Amino acid sequence: MKIEKSISLQPYNTFGIDVNAKLFCAFESESDLSSLLTHEACKEEKKLILGGGSNLLFTSDFDGLVMKNDIRGIETLKEDDDHIWVRVGAGENWHEFVLYCIQNQWGGVENLSLIPGTVGAAPMQNIGAYGVEIKEVFESLEAIQIEDGISKTFSKEDCQFGYRESIFKKKAKGQFIITRVTLRLSKKPEFNTSYGAIGETLNDMGIRHLSIKAISDAVIKIRQSKLPDPDEIGNAGSFFKNPTVDYIDFEGLRVHFPKIPGYELPGKNFKIPAAWLIEQCGWKGRTFGPIGVHKNQALVLVNYGQGTGGAIKNLAMEIKESVARKFGIEIEPEVNIV
Ligand code: FAD
Ligand code: EPU
Repeated sequence: MKIEKSISLQPYNTFGIDVNAKLFCAFESESDLSSLLTHEACKEEKKLILGGGSNLLFTSDFDGLVMKNDIRGIETLKEDDDHIWVRVGAGENWHEFVLYCIQNQWGGVENLSLIPGTVGAAPMQNIGAYGVEIKEVFESLEAIQIEDGISKTFSKEDCQFGYRESIFKKKAKGQFIITRVTLRLSKKPEFNTSYGAIGETLNDMGIRHLSIKAISDAVIKIRQSKLPDPDEIGNAGSFFKNPTVDYIDFEGLRVHFPKIPGYELPGKNFKIPAAWLIEQCGWKGRTFGPIGVHKNQALVLVNYGQGTGGAIKNLAMEIKESVARKFGIEIEPEVNIV
């Protein structure tokens, strides 16, 4: 384990923002991590935990220690006729793990195919896509408290999962390093094709017999047609969360904007696609020097080359204000702004 000084973070964030970390260290085990947390040189430093850097926007150099989680390993804890409990190192790549599950015929994460990043960051914001969230297969996670190095296990209830939310983005923000995640996967998978586009894509692909592999292939196809590949264009997926309004507000909005889309949630609330709101404000496909709003997905801000995190943050704030002015709706960033 080596602590490096003044390291460029450009290869470590999918926006491709070129900032430096004062100190940088990758750890591969819990014991590495314990040594790092008690290391004299790092004790007083501000700390940032880094996975794949696919949900981060760096707006300036990081004046502290960046700790990159490289804890690997996939092990089976137990199984019965229906389920298998798998414990995964937080530094494992999420999509590679999904493919491993598909290979083994373990169902539950196939709708979450091709989401960038690490397994450890997945519960942070309860990753979700195409009708599934990680909380549905989540059993528990192990984490180390930064302040005192003590390990703690969090159950599903402890994590307080919500839409793109968990305790680690709220009350416990910046306090824990997730080291291992245990998921309960299904040996007799139930296929989730509730998200309309999956059914259509399976049809187009000529799939007659559903399987977790077929669902994964369909999800990958949809994602590749909509979302920019971070290896080609810098981005962090959806920059904002989709806002929720209550029934009365939604009816009021419909009077002024009859075409506004909304998906009904329990409790008579409606989720409105932020992409639609942003597109209606005229942002879709616009560029501002090296940065812009993606041409196929208005919710994705992009860095075509030398853009700065500050410029992307300013653009995001202008977008947020324009949506508030036109619709009276506050949209909140999903991306972690550092
Ligand atoms: P990072 O960006 O490295 O970190 C994110 C946050 O988690 C930071 O605050 C970091 O400090 C913290 N963190 C990271 N690892 C740990 C750890 N081990 N312990 C404690 N804290 C940690 N997300 C979705 O939910 N659904 C999608 O469909 C989706 N699509 C995307 C598509 C693209 C093209 C991109 C670029 C992103 C997309 N995302 C999506 C967002 C992103 O992939 C997820 O949020 C992912 O879980 C982030 O993982 P990461 O390892 O890159 O996290
Ligand atoms: N739409 C527009 N303009 C656009 C794009 C979309 O008006 O440019 C409207 C359309 O009405 C469309 C609707 O928005 O039907 C929803 O679009 P899409 O299916 O692309 O999903 P999204 O709401 O934009 C969410 C997640 C994605 C996830 C997809 C699929 C959030 C913030 N984003 O996007 O997650 O992959 O659904 O489930 O919830 C991420 O979190 O980074 C992410 C990419």
